[in-house]
Amino acid sequence: DDSDNPDLDPKQFYNIAHRGASGDTPELTMAAFDRAVEKGADYIEVDLQMTKDGVIVLMHDETVNRTTDGTGLVSELTLAEIKQLDAGSWFNEAFPEKAQPEYIGLEVPTLREVIEEYSDELRLYIEIKEPNAFPDLEEKLVFLLNDTGLIGEDVPPGNVLIQSFGAQSLYNIYLLQPDIPLIQLISYSDIPSITGDAMDSINEYAVGIGLSYTQITRSFMKEALSRDLLVHPYTVNKPEHMETLIEWGATGIITNYPGVLQEVIERN
Ligand code: G3P
Ligand code: CA
Repeated sequence: DDSDNPDLDPKQFYNIAHRGASGDTPELTMAAFDRAVEKGADYIEVDLQMTKDGVIVLMHDETVNRTTDGTGLVSELTLAEIKQLDAGSWFNEAFPEKAQPEYIGLEVPTLREVIEEYSDELRLYIEIKEPNAFPDLEEKLVFLLNDTGLIGEDVPPGNVLIQSFGAQSLYNIYLLQPDIPLIQLISYSDIPSITGDAMDSINEYAVGIGLSYTQITRSFMKEALSRDLLVHPYTVNKPEHMETLIEWGATGIITNYPGVLQEVIERN
């Protein structure tokens, strides 16, 4: 990698909590991030959407329908409207065996709130979810990361990673601020056809690859690792799958259960 893009330590294995500890708590809420800290996660994986009034908030879907008591597109609601929503009760209804009274009334967090609350304890693994829906998202994101001191001249790289399926979106970030480590996500259908040359082009701007663990092979892993690319499979929830991926050399795993992964790491 001869770019300005810094490598993260390939010998360091990362426990990455997918939407926070989303197996046990309502995804992308402060409860999910508290649990991730408790269970020993190194990073929290977060998905970004933007409100009607241009604020970056954490939500996986384009609409608030699944994970709140409201309806509609995030992009058609103001932050004030989104802050009225309950982002925890749906979880209690969907998973009665995991329900907790303190989940009722949890808010949808803004990215700034999460950075302010957790940047001493956790690192951020940010996904640009809808690369085409919000043309100014990359610029706003890079501004926010600088403004909160998460990136910058005297800050060691790795406090924040940015991932996307959209190569153009990652490239835009690279042009704005070349020292942010980037992870190229590869979709299911592209994995079987990815060549060494394709890996070399990814290596020009990114430090690693993210892909579904169901599609990964030992030889894919070997090819990527031989180029010093990080390999972060998602979303791995079973100990036996975690063990195989670690044996193959995965440099991190994205999981809904950071506590389960932590136990596997300690056994290995
Ligand atoms: O880390 C990649 C993974 O989060 C992509 O899947 O749908 O959970 O955002 P999704
Ligand atoms: Ca994601």
